Amino acid sequence: MIDLQPVKGTRDFFPDEMRLRNWLFDVWRRVSVQAGFEEYDTCVLEHEELYIRKAGDEISKQLYSFEDKGGRRLSLRPEMTPSLARLVLQYKKSLSFPIKWFSMPQCFRYERMTKGRRREHFQWNADIIGQPEMVAEAEILMLLISACESMGLTAKDIRVFINDRRILNSILSQISVPQEMHSAVLVIMDKRDKISTEALSKLLQDLGMSTIQVEQLNEYLSKSDLNELKKDLNDTHGIEELQNLMDLMVTAGYSNYLQFDISIVRGLSYYTGAVFEVNSPEKQHRAICGGGRYDSLLSACGGETVPAVGFGFGDVVVLDVLKELQRFPELPRTLDYTIIPFAAEQVGIALKIAAELRSQGSTVDCNFSMKKIKKTMQQANESGAKNTILLFPDELAEDKVVIRDMQLHEQKPIKITDLISSAE
Ligand code: HAM
Repeated sequence: MIDLQPVKGTRDFFPDEMRLRNWLFDVWRRVSVQAGFEEYDTCVLEHEELYIRKAGDEISKQLYSFEDKGGRRLSLRPEMTPSLARLVLQYKKSLSFPIKWFSMPQCFRYERMTKGRRREHFQWNADIIGQPEMVAEAEILMLLISACESMGLTAKDIRVFINDRRILNSILSQISVPQEMHSAVLVIMDKRDKISTEALSKLLQDLGMSTIQVEQLNEYLSKSDLNELKKDLNDTHGIEELQNLMDLMVTAGYSNYLQFDISIVRGLSYYTGAVFEVNSPEKQHRAICGGGRYDSLLSACGGETVPAVGFGFGDVVVLDVLKELQRFPELPRTLDYTIIPFAAEQVGIALKIAAELRSQGSTVDCNFSMKKIKKTMQQANESGAKNTILLFPDELAEDKVVIRDMQLHEQKPIKITDLISSAE
């Protein structure tokens, strides 16, 4: 007997779940298009080297990678951003910057399975490439907030926790951590919520930081006020930009959503500026969405530096959040008509009526089970049909059918030609 369960950490989508997934994808696609983003896609298979990074990113250790029959090292994509960088580098000369692109890829990571983390997930990505000013961050944040609002989430339910990697870099410089260690230190700092303070200190010391530096770092990380930090740091890069972004968001009408949070680091080493995560105000969940500015990813892939900012917004956590808040949309199956023949010789006419109604845009199913009327009506009810079309021999002899309104429980004979023209 073969194993009937899906591969560990992956999901099957039965029709009910598929309706929910399509609803989510529709929200993502609609808000993206409304904000002027264009959709793109790439193959789920990529060259493994695209995901191998020196700083020790967790993602590099979570790859589903293998060698193909031609000896190539390949990987299922764990995220979309490197593929986007590859596309942009490939077609840079013909693209007119800034570009605003979105995608909804399925991603694979060999994760330790915890609540909100699976080995396969869908991740809406939206990125603006070629816009160095903070207005790109503002547009990106407005886009993801508008998606949340479209799902029925408000500023009471979610918060965008935001920081800037340049602030973290100036803290590290101020406590004399050498520049070349910054990326690796930040990857470790991102584990702050997941491991104990002692374990974190040990990892930082193993990397080469002294006990005093770790203490100093913790002291800086306890500060929650941007102005206070501004007084303490020699290099205030990032702080002013973040304040400008917050002002921009206030003017745009999104002030309630944003909160400065020095503990937001992000585990991907390519971020260079603003970094953010969306969560409930009390941070009860894994991040619903995460992103930031990554001006040097394209240069790391072999091109020139190109400013870029974007986010990834997974399907798993947001659906958990909506479920907990009892904000799942009602998504019953619906059909305009179910056509019910009662004898084999009526099948042809049933198919013909179905084809005519479908060509006029109606959703139509036929029930060819030839079961008794009670059973077929019950099945039509379960399928969400608004009307049933009953093919009784007496009416058919007069080129008529019986149409039954399933909500009003009323039925009447109707000429087939009238039925078809009334559906136009
Ligand atoms: P990330 O933080 O690794 O960023 O993932 C972004 C989002 O994808 C997370 O906040 C979460 O919603 C979802 N996600 C990630 N891993 C899993 C998982 N194992 N199970 C379920 N959901 C998951 C990135 O991937 C960046 N490439 C995002 C980005 C785009 N930055 C700039 N542009």
